Amino acid sequence: MEERIVSSDTESTEEHSLEQSLRPQLLETYIGQDNVKNNLAIFIEAARNRQETLDHVLLYGPPGLGKTTLAAVIANEMGVNLRTTSGPAIERPGDLAAILTALEPGDVLFIDEIHRLPRAIEEVLYPAMEDFCLDIVIGKGPSARSVRLDLPPFTLVGATTRAGAISAPLRDRFGVLSRLEYYEEGHLIEIVRRTADIFQTGIDDQGALEIARRSRGTPRIANRLLRRVRDYAQVKADGTITFAIAQESLELLQVDRLGLDHIDHKLLTGIIERFRGGPVGLDTIAASIGEESSTIEDVYEPYLLQIGFLQRTPRGRVVTDLVYQHFKLEVPQ
Ligand SMILES: Nc1ncnc2c1ncn2[C@@H]1O[C@H](COP(=O)(O)OP(=O)(O)OP(=O)(O)O)[C@@H](O)[C@H]1O
Ligand SMILES: [Mg+2]
Repeated sequence: MEERIVSSDTESTEEHSLEQSLRPQLLETYIGQDNVKNNLAIFIEAARNRQETLDHVLLYGPPGLGKTTLAAVIANEMGVNLRTTSGPAIERPGDLAAILTALEPGDVLFIDEIHRLPRAIEEVLYPAMEDFCLDIVIGKGPSARSVRLDLPPFTLVGATTRAGAISAPLRDRFGVLSRLEYYEEGHLIEIVRRTADIFQTGIDDQGALEIARRSRGTPRIANRLLRRVRDYAQVKADGTITFAIAQESLELLQVDRLGLDHIDHKLLTGIIERFRGGPVGLDTIAASIGEESSTIEDVYEPYLLQIGFLQRTPRGRVVTDLVYQHFKLEVPQ
């Protein structure tokens, strides 16, 4: 995959540890996602009042919208430990058993990329989620026997970018299903301002707005753009981020007014020039621009669908009139 400043995935381990320091710790400081937050606030308070564990929570939505952050917020609000693992990290049932038996009562177990849990392990998870117990087989062959182990009550928080890839039996065992949405401009402005504060960087309203607009509704991208603009402001000006500084540096980074970069441009103009705007199948698009279909589907396409630039039809992807307008092309009849 080409390097991409507007990618919603984390770029490096450095970015990863930086993100860690930018994560809000409580619901009150978690910006936006009001619907998800309001619901969680009620469930958390109710569970706390009853002195019970919170129901299992499944968080889903595109990368960089704050799923991992929210898992930590839930643990903080419940006043319990957060244990973190991920679907691909759990290879054998024994791995999961080791994690589960080490939990303390009430803990939050966060399983990232939960859609990548192997099926055999999912099955170990079902009784753990439902009855807080574990069925394990001891020994081999005719002498093998199954024993039931009690587990401390815990809350499973699962995160996935692909809700559709989760099996129905697993999904049904979550009491709370929360879908994170792309952030609106006002919330992104707040996020940019908050991060600028943490960095002790001056930023004016227009500067924050300009970064927010080009962030594809995604806090991770907003924070990344802010870092690059901050560098530019420091080298080319007095360090304060103004509208002009934000605009110049983002132009230089080839992030356009809507946050689209050269790969989006290649993808969209490719569909227009080679396939007359579509419909064209995903695999054909992928081959024509030299990318994996799954990368297009998971990384490039969701935001283009969200802003109405692309449509999915049974016969393939179609670009909309908005794309012609954005590139100042004549809309075909
Ligand atoms: N609501 C929010 N308020 C402020 N900052 C946020 C918010 N949501 C996310 N962020 C910031 O965005 C960054 C990315 O968030 P996070 O890692 O939680 O996303 P994610 O949904 O888990 O992504 P992925 O799918 O790649 O795992 C974090 O550094 C965090 O600081
Ligand atoms: Mg995450």
